[in-house]
Amino acid sequence: MPLKKDFLWGGAVAANQCEGAYLEDGKGLSLVDLLPAGKERWEALMEPKKALTTTYSHYPSHESIDFYHRYKEDIKLFAEMGFKVFRLSISWPRIFPNGDETEPNEKGLAFYDNVFDECAKYGIEPLVTINHFDTPLGLVKDYGGWRNRKLIDFYVKFAETVLHRYKGKVKYWLTFNEINMILHIPFFGAGLILEDGENHDQVKYQAAHYQLVASSLATKIAKEVDPQIQIGCMLAAGEIYPYTCHPNDMLKAVKENQSQYFFIDVQSRGYYPSYAERLFKELGVSLEMEEGDRDILKRHTVDFISFSYYSSRLTSADPEVNNAQKSGNAIMTLRNPHLDATDWGWQIDPIGLRVTMNQLWDRYQKPLFIVENGMGAVDELNENNTVDDDYRIEYMRDHLEQMIEAVEDGVELMGYTSWGCIDLVSAGSGEMKKRYGFIYVDRDNEGRGTNERYKKKSFNWYKQVIESNGEKL
Ligand code: BG6
Repeated sequence: MPLKKDFLWGGAVAANQCEGAYLEDGKGLSLVDLLPAGKERWEALMEPKKALTTTYSHYPSHESIDFYHRYKEDIKLFAEMGFKVFRLSISWPRIFPNGDETEPNEKGLAFYDNVFDECAKYGIEPLVTINHFDTPLGLVKDYGGWRNRKLIDFYVKFAETVLHRYKGKVKYWLTFNEINMILHIPFFGAGLILEDGENHDQVKYQAAHYQLVASSLATKIAKEVDPQIQIGCMLAAGEIYPYTCHPNDMLKAVKENQSQYFFIDVQSRGYYPSYAERLFKELGVSLEMEEGDRDILKRHTVDFISFSYYSSRLTSADPEVNNAQKSGNAIMTLRNPHLDATDWGWQIDPIGLRVTMNQLWDRYQKPLFIVENGMGAVDELNENNTVDDDYRIEYMRDHLEQMIEAVEDGVELMGYTSWGCIDLVSAGSGEMKKRYGFIYVDRDNEGRGTNERYKKKSFNWYKQVIESNGEKL
């Protein structure tokens, strides 16, 4: 079998999408706590000013699936599937409620101690995202989010606190979830509220520069705390294909792929790519840097490249053709006639995973880690209290086959964590109905339900995949 003996199989979640307990034990509000569910959520993400002033009928992050109180039961189920790794994030406002405090919230820190201890009981390695879309609201309101350089200091304080606290308990860390998301949903990625009339690209790339510096500083601290720690960057990946074989389409695809890789180029190589100069000129972007920034980026690069993969994408150089682009995982794409799509219109392309892995490996020559992949679908609990989610098994089987092909192509791969291993709140739509898990949670879009957990058919299937280290798909 091409997969390493110690291949890290597991699943992934994010604090704001599963914990609930949104004001418990001293936690402050995050920007996500203002977001509603359904169509209104997307509007709020695109026009965050509205989210700050509107009262909605339901806020899915407030209770979510109550992982905060049920983590023991959930981790036990993960262990039953044989997880070797569990990816989760630390809620920033649980540790620093407003974001700018000088002392952390002890009760918040203790919660993650308990979670990591529970993982250790079963020999599960935590893989921790320091920041996954949940900037404290205080930092958005009082500082303008990541448009303010002071955010570097607040983030570094947060990172330093958790890296020290969980020394010996957590070996694998990611600095920012999907760092390129700042270009597509800047409110999620960086707490940015863009004003009419300002150059949005300028604001986004400047904020991204601060995040890149912060990411490198966190990497530096991690290595000082414990040289064994492995730090990864995290990309919302998915190769962008040309719509036709016309050279203009190909060039457009090359450029769009570069704009996705942009931040990873910096985090992995330690410097801005050579194409940045022209890109910035065209966009009218001029980065403000402090002395020492370039040196920080250069010295503290990541150890591995992690990424989410849901789909490939498609682009055309012809603006008329490109008008038909739709959002797939927030990044725009044309419909690929060769691919089917999920109920949410996300196109299904297992071979695209192999393509993406080959590209990432060729580009960086650093181990890869697939930290999100999966199918959001409508699941029905049947009379036997299970879900016959054969469609999910098929989706995952097809992707895992291609993942293994990529390893046979020579790609070095550390592990695979499927997204939303237990049903949780959707980031993009706020729905519970868009389910990814092997474990069904009895909760609906309006927050009704018992929160009881039930094993789906895919639960035993994934268990067998892990047991056989990918031999039995
Ligand atoms: C990724 C995010 O972009 O996609 C996750 O890192 C998110 O937070 C996942 O949940 C799936 O997206 P959605 O909108 O279906 O929840």
